[in-house]
Amino acid sequence: MATVRDVREKAGDEPITMLTAYDAPTAGIVDDAGVDVILVGDSVGNVVLGHETTVPVSVDGIAHHVGAVSRATEDALVVADMPFLSFGVDEKDSLENAGRMLKEEGAQAVKLESGPHTVDLTEKMVQLGIPVMAHLGLTPQHVNQYGGYPRQGTDQAAAQRMLDLAIEHEEAGAFSLVLEHVPANLAAEITDALDIPTIGIGAGPDCDGQVLVFDDAVGISEWTPSFSEQFGNVRAEMESAVDDYVSAVESGEFPADEHSHEETDLEDIY
Ligand code: KIV
Repeated sequence: MATVRDVREKAGDEPITMLTAYDAPTAGIVDDAGVDVILVGDSVGNVVLGHETTVPVSVDGIAHHVGAVSRATEDALVVADMPFLSFGVDEKDSLENAGRMLKEEGAQAVKLESGPHTVDLTEKMVQLGIPVMAHLGLTPQHVNQYGGYPRQGTDQAAAQRMLDLAIEHEEAGAFSLVLEHVPANLAAEITDALDIPTIGIGAGPDCDGQVLVFDDAVGISEWTPSFSEQFGNVRAEMESAVDDYVSAVESGEFPADEHSHEETDLEDIY
């Protein structure tokens, strides 16, 4: 099983790979492929659970998925994404919610959508033994504040604030930093300024690693962000399998003899 130290040590040698997974079969596929980090993202809300945003995701909800992913993962580092308002409101609740992901669900670290309010919290979690992945740039839990999903760090003041916050989270003990939807040159500068690895999504090629949402990467999602890439067309494969199943049932081809059994000594039941 990979550790946060393995992830830190890989930075600079080879790009770190990270994908989301929300269930056991997907985690098995991602883990077998040798992906370094599996993020049980709160993107489960819009990717899997049919919500418009990640805001409705609950602690119990994410815990359910973290447990499934942890049970199916042998090698990758499993990171639990802490949902909206599960951290940052009350310190005790924040620590208990995050601790539960390690203690009860088998994750090795948590991710916090970060800001000025998570610097001290990150330090406290790390002191208690909860490794923290920070997340700056576009933080989708702020969708209602942003009014959408705009690029971040696009002017000098915002870029400087992001760099300062990145350094503060490194000093607080975060073991890595996700940078989402920020200019590639800013992500490169932040990566240079930090010792901990940066993992980019829509943040250009110069981060220490890359992360994508699984369903976007394999081509299940109907819509993908401009910074994503579909490396397969799994949706088409699923649609074709479901069409074939429906046709086989409707035509009577399924179930065939090999899918059924009869007991010769059963008496007729009327
Ligand atoms: O929830 C998620 O999937 C994420 C990644 C996109 C970084 O936060």
